[in-house]
Amino acid sequence: LWTPEHIIDLRIEQLRAQIGSEKVLLGLSGGVDSSVVAALLHRAIGDQLTCVFVDNGLLRLNEGDDVMTMFAGDHGMKVIRANAQDRFLSELAGVTDPEAKRKIIGRVFIEVFAEEARKLDGVKFLAQGTIYPDVIESAASKQGKAHVIKSHHNVGGLPADLNFDLVEPLRDLFKDEVRKLGTTLGLPHAMIYRHPFPGPGLGVRILGEVKQEYADILRRADAIFMEELRKSGWYDKTAQAFAVFQPVKSVGVVGDGRRYAWVIALRAVETIDFMTARFAHLPYDLVELISNRIMNEIAEVSRVVYDVSSKPPATIEWE
Ligand code: XMP
Repeated sequence: LWTPEHIIDLRIEQLRAQIGSEKVLLGLSGGVDSSVVAALLHRAIGDQLTCVFVDNGLLRLNEGDDVMTMFAGDHGMKVIRANAQDRFLSELAGVTDPEAKRKIIGRVFIEVFAEEARKLDGVKFLAQGTIYPDVIESAASKQGKAHVIKSHHNVGGLPADLNFDLVEPLRDLFKDEVRKLGTTLGLPHAMIYRHPFPGPGLGVRILGEVKQEYADILRRADAIFMEELRKSGWYDKTAQAFAVFQPVKSVGVVGDGRRYAWVIALRAVETIDFMTARFAHLPYDLVELISNRIMNEIAEVSRVVYDVSSKPPATIEWE
């Protein structure tokens, strides 16, 4: 009988048999899959698990702190936070091509993760949040984009001196099954039902060159957008939503003067499979509220636009 409790018990037994008294390393991203693996492994082997969370500086507002609070704090897991924000930013300086940015973010992720892994003694296993659709897709397609996160965590991507055995407890499960396990393991609803977030993060939501200043503005605008979507109940009615930083200056009026400041685009889509998508028909009142808040609370933003493009021909991300 398929109940989450039953699957969890079975997995825990299998994990203990596979791992014994060895140590396991897990790349924790804060996404659903790696979080469920963390919770499952922690229940199975406790402190034999060490998680490494790479903060690339391209995460949402407070994301790094929230991951640490939840996993190291609430769940009492061993989590190493690699604060690599400056390193990612300096590697990205001057780079404007989206695919080049993706490659840099992927490469630096591997470097930082490998450095942290080398600091740990006697780790035999690397755990990964591979789920069944990942297995099918990586076998079937070389699309190259959507699975950058997992290819980061893939043993094949790590330098040769780090040869771990793999632990992939979600390999035969679909997303909805993973979510049920997560809920049963005590992970909060908001974390289990969060929208997908791309591996390169804000790196592809800041058009052109990535700068600290832009990332900080974008994070604040995005946080207002997310807060209002959640409050209004629209977060769960959309499949993905985010703000995008436009590196252009547009005029606004402040008092008697004209002020040139940045433009923020809001993107929200409805989709089942992310291959096609319709822009979410958010109520105008909600869009108005969000837009006013962003312009009033963030002086560096003078204009907010709503993206009414569907996929195809547009993509969900702007880069
Ligand atoms: P597009 O923009 O291609 O996005 O319509 C489809 C889905 O893929 C995600 N996406 C990425 N995920 N690394 C990722 O891990 C990437 O480089 C990447 N690019 C797009 C996007 O967020 C959406 O869910």
